[in-house]
Amino acid sequence: MMSHATFRQLEVFEAIARLGSFTRASEELHLTQPTVSMQMKKLTDAVGLPLFEQVGRRIHLTEAGKELAIAAREIMQSLERCDMSIAEMRGLKKGKLRLAVVSTAKYFVPRILGEFLRQHPGVEVSLKVTNRQRVLERAAENLDDLYILSQPIGHIELVAKSFMENPLLVMAHPEHPLTHERNIPLQRIAQEPFLMREEGSGTRLSVERIFGSQGLKPNIRMELGSNEAIKQAIIGGLGISILSRHTLGTDGMGEPAVLDVEGFPVVNQWHIGHPHGKQLSVVASAFLDYLLRRMMKSPETSE
Ligand code: PGA
Repeated sequence: MMSHATFRQLEVFEAIARLGSFTRASEELHLTQPTVSMQMKKLTDAVGLPLFEQVGRRIHLTEAGKELAIAAREIMQSLERCDMSIAEMRGLKKGKLRLAVVSTAKYFVPRILGEFLRQHPGVEVSLKVTNRQRVLERAAENLDDLYILSQPIGHIELVAKSFMENPLLVMAHPEHPLTHERNIPLQRIAQEPFLMREEGSGTRLSVERIFGSQGLKPNIRMELGSNEAIKQAIIGGLGISILSRHTLGTDGMGEPAVLDVEGFPVVNQWHIGHPHGKQLSVVASAFLDYLLRRMMKSPETSE
């Protein structure tokens, strides 16, 4: 009866069928020739029909042997696949995920990470939050698994996918006179004292492009190193600025007003990516899939 065949016998048989020789199969499996012959005798008994016929020096499979070879191969392949999925599960349990994100992404990345980690409690995460320039430098040095930043990607070669909008808004003190105006031309905004993000910031790059596209320059009053500092400076009456909508509603200290400016919001896209040719770890590709799938399902809940 077939059910009396052991896994070892099937393994030996598969090797003989593939290699066409008892000798080569015994070498591949590190078994002695008599062991191989013995295993095949037992298997033939279990099947109840001859599996091989010898023509000259070569071994040929009988009809029954061919049938069994197909089944044996399917069993081996199915076990290999199972082995891989189990290895992935093991990897996922203990893996480490290294993320580097631009400062403006810190308003939504931790929430997504939280959901991911609830599904994979054993994963350890390191989240580096820094500005765009530094994120690109880290990518060039291959320091992390994945990078999150806004468009455009620029000089460094990243394989990146967009997953969410990043709308930029013009923000002012809630009592600023411009809050009463509609469709304010950018030229008018260029006259106001402007609070600018530091060199290397992606937001700054976008602001320079927006003004530049109309041949304008912002009237920079002050440079500040973070979105939070700029919001506080707006509330403090020091000027206006252009920031991502993600920065709104993040602290209860009073929020800037959003001005109605022509062409706004300017909508950038958030991208997640990694350098070309990088082999993603099991955990990193699981997170990448998770993020992209989640955003496809409910993009509106992520802002
Ligand atoms: P930043 O980047 O936080 O460095 O300004 C934002 C972005 O990439 O749009």
